[in-house]
Amino acid sequence: MCGIVGYIGKNQAAPFLLEGLSKLEYRGYDSAGIAVYDGSHIRVEKSVGRLASLRDKIEGDMPQGAVGIGHTRWATHGRPSDRNAHPHTDCSGDFVIVHNGIIENYLSLKEELIAKGHEFQSETDTEVVAHLMEEVYNGDFEAAVREVLGRIEGSYALVFLSRKDPDRIICTKQDNPLVIGLGDGENFIASDIPAIIARTRRTYILNDGEFAVVKKDSVWVTNREGEPVTKKVFEVNWNAEAAEKGGYEHFMLKEIHEQPKAVRDTVSPRLSKDGKSIIMNELNWNREFLDSIKKIFIVACGTAYNAGLVGKYYIEKLARVPVEIDIASEFRYRDPIIDEDTLTIVLSQSGETSDTLAALKESKRQGAKTLAITNVVGSSIAREADQVIYTWAGPEIAVASTKAYTTQLIIMFMLSLYMSGIRGTQSQERISELLEALKKVPAQVSETLEDVEPIKTFAKQYGFNEDVFYIGRSLDYDVSLEGALKLKEISYIHAEAYAAGELKHGTLALIIEGVPVIALATQKNVYEKTLSNIKEVKARDAVVIGIAAEGDNELEKYVDHVIKVPETDELLIPVLTVVPLQLLAYYAAITRGCDVDKPRNLAKSVTVE
Ligand code: F6R
Repeated sequence: MCGIVGYIGKNQAAPFLLEGLSKLEYRGYDSAGIAVYDGSHIRVEKSVGRLASLRDKIEGDMPQGAVGIGHTRWATHGRPSDRNAHPHTDCSGDFVIVHNGIIENYLSLKEELIAKGHEFQSETDTEVVAHLMEEVYNGDFEAAVREVLGRIEGSYALVFLSRKDPDRIICTKQDNPLVIGLGDGENFIASDIPAIIARTRRTYILNDGEFAVVKKDSVWVTNREGEPVTKKVFEVNWNAEAAEKGGYEHFMLKEIHEQPKAVRDTVSPRLSKDGKSIIMNELNWNREFLDSIKKIFIVACGTAYNAGLVGKYYIEKLARVPVEIDIASEFRYRDPIIDEDTLTIVLSQSGETSDTLAALKESKRQGAKTLAITNVVGSSIAREADQVIYTWAGPEIAVASTKAYTTQLIIMFMLSLYMSGIRGTQSQERISELLEALKKVPAQVSETLEDVEPIKTFAKQYGFNEDVFYIGRSLDYDVSLEGALKLKEISYIHAEAYAAGELKHGTLALIIEGVPVIALATQKNVYEKTLSNIKEVKARDAVVIGIAAEGDNELEKYVDHVIKVPETDELLIPVLTVVPLQLLAYYAAITRGCDVDKPRNLAKSVTVE
């Protein structure tokens, strides 16, 4: 997804702009550009491809100047190209803009501007903003920006530079993140904290509609109406190293190995001192509140949706409240039945996914109570929801989500137990049993990471197959979906997950000799039935890798290979079974020479529809 940086201060801007953009590379992008005011003009340099291409282009002739803006673009309107890369300028080159988001009414604005004689250089929606600036500017930079904001519709984080007022950068946002880093005699702008963390930890996080005039030694923030806003400084407490690879070859592998810590960090602050109950200080729900909820929606995208499937199972099983689950891009357009007795839970690692944010807003608009489960403090979704639970997974950089998924499962599990405690739907013995099991999970995740050699071998053996199938029932099916998503997104192998009982209704036709089938068999009440399904695929000469719990000595009789995970309560086993599936996907991608951390066509955070 697009990244934004800006600098104004006592030093050269370009080195920071390039450094900041490199820290945002994880968001996914297809072109990059910077613009620097050199004392008389704004010099714009941009290039399709990796940031390295831009660096090569300006090597030995770096734009000089102490004020500038930069951007990494993930194409929406107009294909990836030098011309479509940001920053964009008006006809005169006096106004330079970078933008994340979508200007929805750009076509009508473009027509109007062309009719007035403006010449467009790109196919982007963003360029209209630069030409509008030129059109409305009347000697007052801020007034012009406000006027332009009144004309555009859509979502944006926008940063404006003007040759006529080069002592300031103006920025504003709507539905896209924007952060201002506060320095000493210099200030920074970025779409995400990793871009500025090496320079400052003191930040202002802009809210929707806020408008900031950033000078080298001041930041002036106003609201939509132009009234001053007093911002609280948000101190970033992440370790800069946390955003780097720390010795692993890829962020994804590092993040897979960070799961024991991520799970521990997510569990421990929410266990009472005696370990006998769940504390959710974020919520403080009571019986009356829970009794008022007649239906829960879980809404999310991708991996977060897969975690939501497990969450639905947990809530219904433990707290006995009906749950519907939706993909966010479907939910927002399907006219779901929402009222004040509804609780909408949105799950989002980034807290910025556009469809999830829209689903949240729609739920609120229709009167639902809302809860966000996210990994990013201060993200748009966190700020929009009535209540927030954070997964303390730490920054997740790899495009393929791993530790966010396992911590989302943990939060859903703890939330369900917390709800069941209030509603009295589980016995104290069962709650104690589950809490005891939960405390062991971080160490058990570590155990699953100890012996990766067999997984590497399978990845080498089967990594060049065209198709891989995942099967399971109940929670095993939900985890299969996540395993298949991991494999397809980073290794580009066609991978599909099926509810094992559904095979006979069509998919069995695809099972032929040598096709790898990953079969999860950890759920007791459907164990025998899963075994029958495994026999069905074996009878068609599939190669079956079974995933089972330690004490299972049965499965190995029916499959070609078995991967075992430590024994735990079958409700918690998805947190363990997903780990070998993540590793299998990782090593299959390595076998095939794929760019694991930046899979083709994908972005870390999907902030457009
Ligand atoms: C897959 C993956 C995506 C995200 C999805 C939602 O590995 O990372 O499917 O899960 O884009 O993102 P968030 O959780 O940030 O809303």
